[in-house]
Amino acid sequence: MRSQLECPQCGTSYPLNEVRYLCNCGGQLDVTHDLLALRTEIKRATFDARHRGAPQPCVQPERDSGVWRYRELILPVPPAAIVSRPEGNTPLYQHPRLSDWVGVDDLLLKHEGENPTGSFKDRGMTVGVTQARWLGACAVACASTGNTSASLAAYAALAGIPSIVFIPQGKIAAGKLAQALAYGAYTLQVAGDFDDAMRLVQHICNEMGIYLLNSLNPFRLEGQKSIIFEIIHGLDWQPPDWIVLPAGNLGNTAAFGKALHELQQLGLIERLPRLAAVQATGANPFYQSYRMGFRQAVTVHAETIATAIRIGAPVSYERAVRSLRWTNGIVTQVSDTEIMDAKAMVDRIGIGCEPASAAAVAGVRKLVSEGIIHPDERVVAVLTGNLLKDPGATVSYHTGEWPDAHFANQPRPIAAQAEEVRRVLEKIL
Ligand code: F0G
Repeated sequence: MRSQLECPQCGTSYPLNEVRYLCNCGGQLDVTHDLLALRTEIKRATFDARHRGAPQPCVQPERDSGVWRYRELILPVPPAAIVSRPEGNTPLYQHPRLSDWVGVDDLLLKHEGENPTGSFKDRGMTVGVTQARWLGACAVACASTGNTSASLAAYAALAGIPSIVFIPQGKIAAGKLAQALAYGAYTLQVAGDFDDAMRLVQHICNEMGIYLLNSLNPFRLEGQKSIIFEIIHGLDWQPPDWIVLPAGNLGNTAAFGKALHELQQLGLIERLPRLAAVQATGANPFYQSYRMGFRQAVTVHAETIATAIRIGAPVSYERAVRSLRWTNGIVTQVSDTEIMDAKAMVDRIGIGCEPASAAAVAGVRKLVSEGIIHPDERVVAVLTGNLLKDPGATVSYHTGEWPDAHFANQPRPIAAQAEEVRRVLEKIL
């Protein structure tokens, strides 16, 4: 097989069908592909030819999935082995009102919240669960701030593999908890935060032979690379100037850099966009490391309204640093108020996203105000999760529980009388 597991730190390689997440030296493994051979085999037209027709009942991954369309760069498995909803094929939105507010004319929103379970995690999970089934895993597990667990639960159910999710008790959004329960995951509400759950799941998976499907798993990241492939393919292989994303456990940051690096190695793009990773100020370990020139990995006790990125000890730190080095990338941070105001703006144009996703938009606005992103540059912000994931945060913002909501849309109590309704509506029409 031309693809393998490889340690970026010491260069040791392992076969793809070995169950391991770390190298013997402790380094986090990459799935690597024979880019030299693929360079002669793969052209832009290879992917153009795999068009998606009208949806059909029987999923053909290469045709229907925005992940498996790029299968040579993801995982070489036979199509029959693939577990797919299908996922991907997400829209790239543009809206003048949002562009004006952010201060960039050419702002595009890649909406990963429009994946089957409402977040980008489906792109990693289709690959992770395919690999789990291929390896004959008895069960799969993850720790999660909510979206990974929702996605794992769905894909494991599809594949008929038992799933176990470790979630921080009381700290995940309602929509996400509902999904894990509904899809049938064995749900462990850990009395602790995400970082405690993450430590616990790694320990238990190693001890009990359960297949770990956090982004520490290199196959997850292979799937998430397709966000980049789809963005750049969708722009006719012309990379934007910036790709901006929210950063928590740093899986996406790691995957994006690897994807861009591979596209360049394959000669499919000539230049790289710059990555900008955005953290919440209360959950900013990666930002702090960045400010220290990445001399050391920082951990914090994380606190933010954006529960998806409430993470103090991100596991994909090293691979994320590599991504930023490859792309001349940067890290910034935004406050919870900036996040919630940006979310209100994304919501108000009729598109909507969950709080963590809005960090990307808040981050673009901040970087424009600081003169780092120029108003005439092309910027793609990745919206990672769906508006419906976190109704609690949205409702509290609009109903006055949020201290500095600049765009609150307060509901009005009203008597059940036409007279009264008319009196109120006449004021606003
Ligand atoms: N946005 C959303 C909506 C997320 O759910 C996550 C991560 C991120 C951004 C950050 O991405 O971890 O790759 O840096 N959610 C994980 C989870 C941690 O468990 O669902 P990252």
